[in-house]
Amino acid sequence: MARRLIELPAPRGPLSERLFEALEGPPNEGLEPPEPIDPADPIADEDLQLALYLAYEIHYTGIRGVDEAWEWAPSLLAFRAGLERPFEAAVAELVEPAAEEELASVGAALQAIVAEDPGPPLSRYLETQGTQEQVLEHVVHRSAYQLKEADPHSWAIPRLPPRPKAALLEVQADEYGGGDVERMHSVLFAKTMTALGLDSTYGAYLDRLPAVTLATVNLVSGFGLHRRRRGAAVGHLAGFEMTSSIPNRRYGNALRRLGFGREATHFYDEHVEADAVHENIAAWDLAGGLAADEPEVAADILFGARALLEVEARSATHLMESWERGESSLRDPVAVAA
Ligand SMILES: [Fe+2]
Ligand SMILES: [Fe+2]
Repeated sequence: MARRLIELPAPRGPLSERLFEALEGPPNEGLEPPEPIDPADPIADEDLQLALYLAYEIHYTGIRGVDEAWEWAPSLLAFRAGLERPFEAAVAELVEPAAEEELASVGAALQAIVAEDPGPPLSRYLETQGTQEQVLEHVVHRSAYQLKEADPHSWAIPRLPPRPKAALLEVQADEYGGGDVERMHSVLFAKTMTALGLDSTYGAYLDRLPAVTLATVNLVSGFGLHRRRRGAAVGHLAGFEMTSSIPNRRYGNALRRLGFGREATHFYDEHVEADAVHENIAAWDLAGGLAADEPEVAADILFGARALLEVEARSATHLMESWERGESSLRDPVAVAA
């Protein structure tokens, strides 16, 4: 498996241009603090989401030609904060604040929240009628997260008290294959990509991913990298696990319908079983456990789950609407082998 090293993508506007230009120079030089920005739709703003994605990505991966010392450069952190502000505000606008009575049982509240998933029926569409091209596009969108699956939530580990920490570790141990690299979920996803004739190199499709897809990863990176958002990170993971089992069965079915074998479907099949277990650990032991130990973050746990569903819904809606118009949902379509 190739080591994590990405190329700087092409900038998509003045913010990403300024950031990438500075990153190619000496650490902490040449990056002025940003003026307050006020994009019309921060979640779909290509320039903002790509710049933010790179500002977070430097914590996960090497970037060719970029000095690793940039990671904690004060000017980068200040610049990133200027990007985070409008994004966080836009997400907060989408999310209903937690009701007082929900806080009495965070596990039960999470179950009610995921039962009202605002997203379009993307997995059902792909299962029953998605074309090969659309199924592959969906895999390319997901690669932004799945090739580093579990990593954003791992930032929360040292920030949790013992009981929820143990629950998080129980989930994460499975995500990382219980110490067996061949069973690591990010590795299984890479195998799916290879079996589908896609490039499984980390970051290979970054230039093709639209803002709404980058936003789904930026959301969880932001939760993971800020200790003050540990509740939201936990709620995001709980929401993720609780909405994973059934869609993953459908994605696997979509691939089977199109004639792909076990190599391609293993990642999805694995999640049908694993996440049926994870959803209970995540809702009750992890989220419920954290709310019991630190009631002051209970509302943010529910925020994290709702934010996940809303931002994922934006991305899924983009895919469905692009396909309805007969267009690619990527910025540049991938070639599909006949
Ligand atoms: Fe997983
Ligand atoms: Fe899982």
